[in-house]
Amino acid sequence: MNKEIKNIEYGLEKIFEGAQDFLPLLGTDYVEFYVGNAKQAAHFYKTAFGFQSHAYAGLETGMTDRVSYVLKQDKIRLVLTTALKSESPIGEHVKKHGDGVKIIALWVEDARSAYEETMKRGAESYQEPLVTNDANGEVVSAGIYTYGETVHLFIERKNYKGEFLPGFVKWDSDYNPSPVGLKFIDHMVGNVGWGEMNTWVKWYEEVMGFVNFLSFDDKQIHTEYSALMSKVMSNGNGRIKFPINEPAKAKKRSQIEEYLDFYEGSGVQHIAVATDDIIKTVSLLRARGIDFLSAPPQAYYDEIPARLGEHMKMMKEDIKELQRLSIMIDADEEGYLLQIFTKPVEDRPTLFFEIIQRMGARGFGAGNFKALFESIEREQEKRGTL
Ligand code: FE2
Repeated sequence: MNKEIKNIEYGLEKIFEGAQDFLPLLGTDYVEFYVGNAKQAAHFYKTAFGFQSHAYAGLETGMTDRVSYVLKQDKIRLVLTTALKSESPIGEHVKKHGDGVKIIALWVEDARSAYEETMKRGAESYQEPLVTNDANGEVVSAGIYTYGETVHLFIERKNYKGEFLPGFVKWDSDYNPSPVGLKFIDHMVGNVGWGEMNTWVKWYEEVMGFVNFLSFDDKQIHTEYSALMSKVMSNGNGRIKFPINEPAKAKKRSQIEEYLDFYEGSGVQHIAVATDDIIKTVSLLRARGIDFLSAPPQAYYDEIPARLGEHMKMMKEDIKELQRLSIMIDADEEGYLLQIFTKPVEDRPTLFFEIIQRMGARGFGAGNFKALFESIEREQEKRGTL
């Protein structure tokens, strides 16, 4: 395992050097899912994941074609949107992909400039700059397509003081399960088709000014049965990280291929959310009914002291406790990280969540890939899709 970690080329210091500053991004603004039943999805994300009721738009607020629920936990905002009529691009999206991520909204200082600069570099337009306003001020938004039917919407909200966006009202609910300690989005991973990873890597470099700071090939990411390749893209300040995966040839069907078959195209594979107390967060999520991938074998936990080396000294967590909760652990030169993956959160084996706690490490758990994928393969086996 240690050898695999050393094989990975770390170019973090190059993030600032190589990235272009034509698209300054302040952070992730929100993630919008198109779903079949937003009311029920909102209940799930509140009950199971501890998100808080935040804002609402629907028939009561003058919205006639859709309903959106905005949920919040610390810095994370999720928007769950469903169509009110059959003739709707939202409904079409759900029909084709099932519930999934439509919009990764990025918080910018100047949405018009973000749109112009990316369009100039070859982006495909989703929405020209649009000014919306209400009594709380105005928001400028503009959007471009990325992989599949997924969209990056640039949100400029410096002249807005409302809850979320114009058209939304504050959502007060009598039902408010407590948060589980999710803090912010660490990274969001996209699955793209056979041979398309480098196309999208180039797209993020040229159109968005991102840099590729980590790469894993199929020699590093494989099990006995399946393989994939992945490249991690980051913006200049490192706040936005988008790993891009593509399937690789192996004996059996890769989990990426399974995703592409069921999502019917490229799309967001997982959203990694950060916590600063993974033991507490995962204990709460389990108690609330979230299913996680099964634990790696005993040998995996026995090897942790050797894998962590000197980082063991700073490790506060009890390995037995991590094992009890099936949490995985990995280390790089700078520190260690703890992570765990949910099973897909909808019936199609598509989108899932990762819970991650970084203790100095800036990688993505490469040392866990093998154990993780073997666990996914056990699930694929049950589904008959391996
Ligand atoms: Fe991840």
